[in-house]
Amino acid sequence: MAADWWKASAAGIPSIKTEVPGPKSRVMHEKTSRHYRGLSGQVQLFPVCFEEGAGITLTDVDGNRYLDFSSGIYVTSLGHCHPKVSEAVAHWAGKLMNAHDFTTPVKEKLIEKMVDILPGNLNAIQLYSDGTSAVEAAIRAARAINNKHEFISCFRDFHGKSMAAVSCAQMVRGDVFSYGPTRAPGFYMVPRPNPYRPTFTKPDGTIDSDAYIRFYDEFIQEGTVGNVSAFVLEPVQGWGGSIFPPDDFFPKLRAYCDKKGILLLDDEVLAGMGRTGEWLALDHWNVTPDIVTFGKSFGNGFPVTAMVVKEQYAEALDKISASSSYGGNPMACAAALASIEVIEEEQILENVRSVGDFFMKRMQRMKDDHPIVGDVKGKGFLLGIELVKDKQTKEPFPEAGKLVYQKAFRKGLAWIPAGHILRMSPPLIMDQHYAEMGLAMIEESIAEVEREHGYR
Ligand SMILES: Cc1ncc(COP(=O)(O)O)c(C=O)c1O
Repeated sequence: MAADWWKASAAGIPSIKTEVPGPKSRVMHEKTSRHYRGLSGQVQLFPVCFEEGAGITLTDVDGNRYLDFSSGIYVTSLGHCHPKVSEAVAHWAGKLMNAHDFTTPVKEKLIEKMVDILPGNLNAIQLYSDGTSAVEAAIRAARAINNKHEFISCFRDFHGKSMAAVSCAQMVRGDVFSYGPTRAPGFYMVPRPNPYRPTFTKPDGTIDSDAYIRFYDEFIQEGTVGNVSAFVLEPVQGWGGSIFPPDDFFPKLRAYCDKKGILLLDDEVLAGMGRTGEWLALDHWNVTPDIVTFGKSFGNGFPVTAMVVKEQYAEALDKISASSSYGGNPMACAAALASIEVIEEEQILENVRSVGDFFMKRMQRMKDDHPIVGDVKGKGFLLGIELVKDKQTKEPFPEAGKLVYQKAFRKGLAWIPAGHILRMSPPLIMDQHYAEMGLAMIEESIAEVEREHGYR
């Protein structure tokens, strides 16, 4: 497959011919959402109905065509309907859809491939159908590995919506609310370094990773019963706003975990499989976790996720009887295998690194030019723009976040809202031309909001 397979379908985008959401979208959404409830903010703020995706484009039921800066929600990372992935799924859809957890030829190939690309001896694998299940299984596996029951996660991390996963997150957030009034016993949260809004700094104002580790140590002594199984962290905060930690944080946390006999559970559901320009985001810091989870980009739209532990912990997967009804079905294995092969064959990691550099430089200019752009952040194609009312006070500007999201969508950009931090997750195949096109729509929208709010 030529690496530019998606370019023909991108010609002429964006192409907005009706008021958007258009008339057909409005009728269809109104009818469906009477009964289909629990929608994300992404849909609530822009209730358009899509009927086709091709490469970096989405087409709605009114015939409007959008540039995709969302990949669904960090999912269709190799573009919508990558021919190699779609053909692989279709092949198994016509041959064998489910065989529980029996070995199949396509599973044999996928597992071999995964062992090949994963660092260190991360090679004991189980497959699932959603990220939450992989995280839930990883937490059970951690308990089985070291027979401990306490877990520490971080403010503004997100790990899914099951009981254990929400217990690793802020529980008053809209989408995890109602599991309260308390998190599951033994689950605790601590701050993690956010370079724009640090909790602990050195005298020169830079972030102090050692102080975070000292705090964790004190917290474990004073606030737990000394039975901590694992730190559960996203390598980069995705929902939290594309927040990357300083370079020394994960190496220091890894060393601390090793010293204390605590496992490092790395939730790469959002950031893994190439989105930051490495297979794992933790590869940026040469840190190997004890347990890792994958999802989203892993199957390029087909629901397939994974939990992987180090070889020496493989027995834990037997102990927890880690399999499930749909996990690792032939279509899922085919989608994941084809996606990994595409990343290798089309040199996707190289593209993510070079176009990712362009994104950051261009966004840096936006920060210099716009009074409400407080910070820009990211690596590769995991990007964020933080909007503030005032650069001095850094007061968040969520109203602007909502307006910029809607305005850019109306111009033809399908993307992701997140309060005051605009999130971008373009397909990893995108080139600089379309990266610039999307950022220009965002910049125009920011300027419009600035004018409406008296900043210009
Ligand atoms: C880091 C992380 N972990 C887990 C999940 C849950 O995945 P899923 O929605 O597939 O259950 C998400 C979803 O956004 C995520 O971002």
